[in-house]
Amino acid sequence: MINLNDLKDIIEEIKSRCDIVDVISDYMHIEKSGSNYTGLCPFHTEKTGSFMVSKSKQIYKCFGCNAGGDVISFVMRWENVDFMEAVKILAKRCGITLNRNISEEERQKIQEINKFREIHTEAARFYFANLLSRKNPGYEYLKKRGLSDKIIKRFGLGYSLNSWNSLMNHLLAKGYDKADLVKCGLVTHKSETNKYYDRFRNRVMFPIFNYNGKVIGFGGRVLDDSLPKYLNSPETLIFNKRLNLYGLNISKKSIKDDTLILVEGYMDLISLYQNNIENVVATLGTALTIGQAKLIRKFAKNVIISYDSDQAGQNATLRAIDILLQADIKVKILNLKDCKDPDDFIKKYGFEGYKKAIDESDYYIKFKIDILKNKYNLQNDTQKMSFVEEATLLLRKLKSPIEKDLYAKYLSDLTNISIESIRANVGIKVKSNYNNSKNNTNNRKIEQMSKIQNGYLKVEAKFIKLLMENKKLRNSVLMDYEIEDFLFGDTKEIFDYIIKNKELDKITIDKIKSLNISEEYVKTIQSIPIEEINTYTLEGTKKIIDQIRKNIIDDEIKSMSDEIKQLSNKLELLKKNNDNTKEVDDKIMNLSLEILKREKIKKDL
Ligand code: CTP
Ligand code: MN
Repeated sequence: MINLNDLKDIIEEIKSRCDIVDVISDYMHIEKSGSNYTGLCPFHTEKTGSFMVSKSKQIYKCFGCNAGGDVISFVMRWENVDFMEAVKILAKRCGITLNRNISEEERQKIQEINKFREIHTEAARFYFANLLSRKNPGYEYLKKRGLSDKIIKRFGLGYSLNSWNSLMNHLLAKGYDKADLVKCGLVTHKSETNKYYDRFRNRVMFPIFNYNGKVIGFGGRVLDDSLPKYLNSPETLIFNKRLNLYGLNISKKSIKDDTLILVEGYMDLISLYQNNIENVVATLGTALTIGQAKLIRKFAKNVIISYDSDQAGQNATLRAIDILLQADIKVKILNLKDCKDPDDFIKKYGFEGYKKAIDESDYYIKFKIDILKNKYNLQNDTQKMSFVEEATLLLRKLKSPIEKDLYAKYLSDLTNISIESIRANVGIKVKSNYNNSKNNTNNRKIEQMSKIQNGYLKVEAKFIKLLMENKKLRNSVLMDYEIEDFLFGDTKEIFDYIIKNKELDKITIDKIKSLNISEEYVKTIQSIPIEEINTYTLEGTKKIIDQIRKNIIDDEIKSMSDEIKQLSNKLELLKKNNDNTKEVDDKIMNLSLEILKREKIKKDL
């Protein structure tokens, strides 16, 4: 054992042994990019990677949400643990045995966390005893909802008495501090009157455990229809709603087929559990977060979303799908048929019914297509085509060609549009497809030239120059933009560089040159007078951005018109030969619609 005398030494030792790139790679996917590593930030929702890890500096940084720090702070955030806990995890990883010599401040924080946990455990015991030791409306309510004594005990449910101070007095008598009870969110302090009262009164209490089984908060449900239906613990030193999941402490022991079922409500989860569906977790009254998705991913690769069937539930499902996908989870959606929530469903159809619904649950893309379908009237041809266009966009995002094909088939069945034309639209290569990809690249080059003449390049270069010079503008517009939003490869390259170095006061032309940018582009940047750039305000910048958007749209319209021209030629041929023209007709129609759409967007810019 290494004898380390204080925490500082331990930290230095841990940091030297736990390489940040190795540690983070164990938690998530990062890719080498230049001298750094990048990935999707686990601490906020995003589509393009803003998360950077520097091996040489041994730090991570997200320019999207500004999270950042060293290997210890990464583990703290990811594992949702305090400093000492993170140090312990890393110490274990690299084989350091910890002695107990730590700083006074850390010691105090650890003590406070332990005390808060104790207080919560004590409160949970108190509520539990209230529920089971004497007759009370809480117990009656849970019985009315069909819960067995066994399940009540399993989840440690309780009852907060209909009194102002019963919990406070109980905990004070146990020797705890009033101020701590307030910090735990169990007692509320009204400063106007200087009065203290229990936060939870006359409610059924659901203790919330972290996945290690420690009580960290409570949800309290009213016994009737009054509002708010649930009251939850506030955020405290030990409770973070966005990083914990209800029931995970229990369900992590019953994960089947690498799958967890995700529900919205405490009652849904408990009701399913009572009916032997045990691999379930619930969110804590907020929309699913990426942190929660990552937590799920540590336990299971697949999630079946089983949210309420109403409009709110459907919207929440759509949001949850995207978050789960980001965490690299396979997502399916369970259909509750005529029932409003899982509790309802399992009461009506029982274990077997729910099991069947699990087996029949749809891959998320089908759910998305179905939701989309409801927005259109498929009897109307124009609407039908818009629907197909939108659905196609969904299919294009799928990575696997087999999935693409499977759901192209589904879409074809739904609309009676031939599978071939849908396949073609989705970008699945069809044998009969005339081969003109070479031609396309040539065309592209010629277009590129004309674009330069049209001043497209100049607009993008101007925007880049603005970002290089003006840090303030950079911060206010960067987040609205994605690399795909530009026409020119050079712009994309520089933009990527600026994103990664957005903290620099000024980005010099020499730095840009070192990125392998074409001479022509560099010249264009240099030709823009600095005085012009310096006069730009946010409003002026927005105008440039709009111009870039217009350029992109023009470009798209142009290539779609070209495609229509080619298709028209093909159509002529088909007609001459008396061949089936439906596929080509469909395509031309779709393209025309797309052009119209873009023209409208352009007008609104
Ligand atoms: N929720 C909340 N605050 C509210 C309403 C709901 O925090 N005012 C959260 C709770 O976590 C609740 C979940 O959202 O469990 C789902 O809400 P709902 O479906 O209304 O509750 P259920 O748990 O299904 O409860 P019940 O069946 O008793 O209506
Ligand atoms: Mn419900």
